[in-house]
Amino acid sequence: MFVMKVSRVQASMGVQTGLFLFWLHVLCAVVLADVWKVDVEHKMEALVSSCVVLPCKFTYPAQQQPSDRIRAIWHKNKNWDDIIFHRDSTLVEDNFKGRTKLIGSLGSFNCSLEIDEVKNIDNGPFCFRVELETAPKDKYSFVDNCVSITMIEEAPKPNLEAETSVHEGEPAVFKCSVRHTCPTHQPSLSWSHPGKIISSYKSLGHGNWEAESLLTFTPTKEDSHTFVECTIMYHGNVKGEMKASRPVFVKEKATLSHIIIPALSGLGAALLVGVVCFLVVKRYRKRIADLQSGVGMNNAGTGFGDQPFSKARMPSPKSQSKCYTAESYDDDDYTNTADLNLYGNI
Ligand SMILES: *[C@@H]1O[C@H](CO)[C@@H](O)[C@H](O)[C@H]1NC(C)=O
Repeated sequence: MFVMKVSRVQASMGVQTGLFLFWLHVLCAVVLADVWKVDVEHKMEALVSSCVVLPCKFTYPAQQQPSDRIRAIWHKNKNWDDIIFHRDSTLVEDNFKGRTKLIGSLGSFNCSLEIDEVKNIDNGPFCFRVELETAPKDKYSFVDNCVSITMIEEAPKPNLEAETSVHEGEPAVFKCSVRHTCPTHQPSLSWSHPGKIISSYKSLGHGNWEAESLLTFTPTKEDSHTFVECTIMYHGNVKGEMKASRPVFVKEKATLSHIIIPALSGLGAALLVGVVCFLVVKRYRKRIADLQSGVGMNNAGTGFGDQPFSKARMPSPKSQSKCYTAESYDDDDYTNTADLNLYGNI
């Protein structure tokens, strides 16, 4: 009874602590949202000549303002006057004029910046500055949270995945993909082989994206020992290796003819051998039988030359003629050899 009471008290305390923590969390979230804060990726990669989007979110300690009452500025962190983006383009550094653009809505706390036609000197660091047209004016430069960009001079070739050997008549899937940081102008992927193509792209987080293309086709025998090639086309005049290829080896389907032809030829060969054996055995038997019944022919007929010559005797003309009549024409060779031996030994 006492134990139960204690555990009940503990449980109610647990609930109260949980509630307290929850309200503390809510309070903190409200308070924290009400400060000057920016959320960017400190290190980004960019492909020279293409574009790069620097993700950016910000908060300010004031009521939510509409986009047109928020002045957003991106500048270099060394010199605040080196402006790379400003609504008033006359204030933008010549080198960046026309190349920078805010994407997303300032009214929704989105300060993401697109830099187009990336140059290899666009390394930054770049920092965001916000000016609110409230009264009195509120402004803040987030110089502690800036973005540095690492330049990639040459694009890596696309990543092509495929099975090394595919099966004739069964759909085969090839996947070509590439990672990049230019989501406002997604690269396009194309294929050297016709088929069903599904293209998509997704965010990998931290400003990185992946464009992907899936090619599905049903290989035929003619596709074997060819190459399937994936070609990438970037936004901008990007240098690098744009193609990736994979060899295709097609495993042929076992059709009825693939089974029947070898089976038939095997059967035919076996039959042929059988018939030959049968004939040979039959002939020998007959021959031996004949020789055994013949007069003095047993040694000469079977032994050819290995029997002592003295033992070989001349067959009588009578038995010779009998031999011929008993046997078929085919036996001539054999008989002649035997005769040759016989007569040659004389
Ligand atoms: C900011 O806007 C861009 C463009 O509309 C969008 O892709 C991105 O997801 C937005 N970022 C956030 C944090 O909402």
